Amino acid sequence: MQQTLILPHGGVLVNRTLRGSLREAARKAAASLPCIPLSRMNLADLEMIAVGAYSPLTGFMRRADYERVIAEMRLANGLVWSVPVTLAVSEQQAQSLKEGDEIALCEGNRPLAIMKVDEIYPYDKRREAREVYRTTEEAHPGVARIYAQGEFLLGGDFWLFDLPSAAKNEFPEIRYTPAQTRKIFAERGWKRIVGFQTRNPIHRAHEYIQKTALEIVDGLFLHPLVGETKKDDIPAEVRIASYRTVIEAYYPKDRVVLGVFPAAMRYAGPREAIMHALARKNYGCSHFIVGRDHAGVGNYYGTYDAQRIFDEFPPEDIGITPLFFEHAFYCRKCGTVVTAKTCPHGKEDWVYLSGTQVRAMLNRGEPLPPEFTRPEVSRVLIEGLRKWQEQHPDQ
Ligand code: ADX
Repeated sequence: MQQTLILPHGGVLVNRTLRGSLREAARKAAASLPCIPLSRMNLADLEMIAVGAYSPLTGFMRRADYERVIAEMRLANGLVWSVPVTLAVSEQQAQSLKEGDEIALCEGNRPLAIMKVDEIYPYDKRREAREVYRTTEEAHPGVARIYAQGEFLLGGDFWLFDLPSAAKNEFPEIRYTPAQTRKIFAERGWKRIVGFQTRNPIHRAHEYIQKTALEIVDGLFLHPLVGETKKDDIPAEVRIASYRTVIEAYYPKDRVVLGVFPAAMRYAGPREAIMHALARKNYGCSHFIVGRDHAGVGNYYGTYDAQRIFDEFPPEDIGITPLFFEHAFYCRKCGTVVTAKTCPHGKEDWVYLSGTQVRAMLNRGEPLPPEFTRPEVSRVLIEGLRKWQEQHPDQ
């Protein structure tokens, strides 16, 4: 029987956040260093690394890590890691720097961290796309991001002295760091915790797999991703409102924690499922839910590819236990949410809506079928989207 919370990936929870006089000294020093403005995804990665959510990473990847992650889904030291976490710059920026330089990592022109540039190296974008995303098509949002970024990567560790504005302003009350969730879980006396990743509003199939998983563990950590997503995904504040509503009405509060996951979506499907699992291990989860087409987009991945990829590793190399779920949906004859594994009826009795259909209905202000989404959630989504669209008429 497990007595304490699971160890972070690599054994130690990374903390790259400076405090006190060191923080003030770094802030002063950064003012006279070359300023490298970060993309929105870089800023999210910066926060993830600084707070230990990407333990054992301590900075943006050097070449040996990058190469081995691409080829073998492992860091140079052998630990499993499935997706590159890199800092790309233009050729011009790369030429203005040399290895060994210190730079300020900035949000706009506001310095947040000091990084020692250990390596400046070129990389093969198409190879990264093919290996990590399983496609070189620019229509894939993760691949498009790689093609749009600079031609060189800067590798090195950093120390952070100020958080990105999103980290301060977006969901501060539930933006728990891994150290904080570990404390919360320990205080509640939980040892077995299942983590749930999502980039969508909650629907009844989500609720079904979350509660089914909760049956075999002590607590459920609902951890919606709130970093950058593609334009047609539902905005994070509307999604979080859907979670608050459903928790209030249908979840046992003493067994659920809602927190936000600051990362950006990469849409790397199977490889991102591994990364999502390792990050949740850092937050203290012993189990992680992987359902249908986890972190997928379009038709780039098979429905269960993100489950099969776990077979490529000895379980102890991943550490956190994945819980796999079949595609779930409501069956009118059963009168409940089911999967093809548990329901004897046929397609004519099953209620299934694609993400595209859901977004179209919500954008038209139409409530979703109650078999698909709880009516309270439908209302919050329609109202939330209407407000969001009023506030962001250009989007
Ligand atoms: S994701 O991009 O963050 O994976 P989403 O919010 O759609 O997107 O899914 C969150 C988690 O729930 C993933 O593990 C996904 O596989 C699972 N999931 C979503 N919908 C279903 C469903 N109908 N049946 C089974 N699993 C699902």
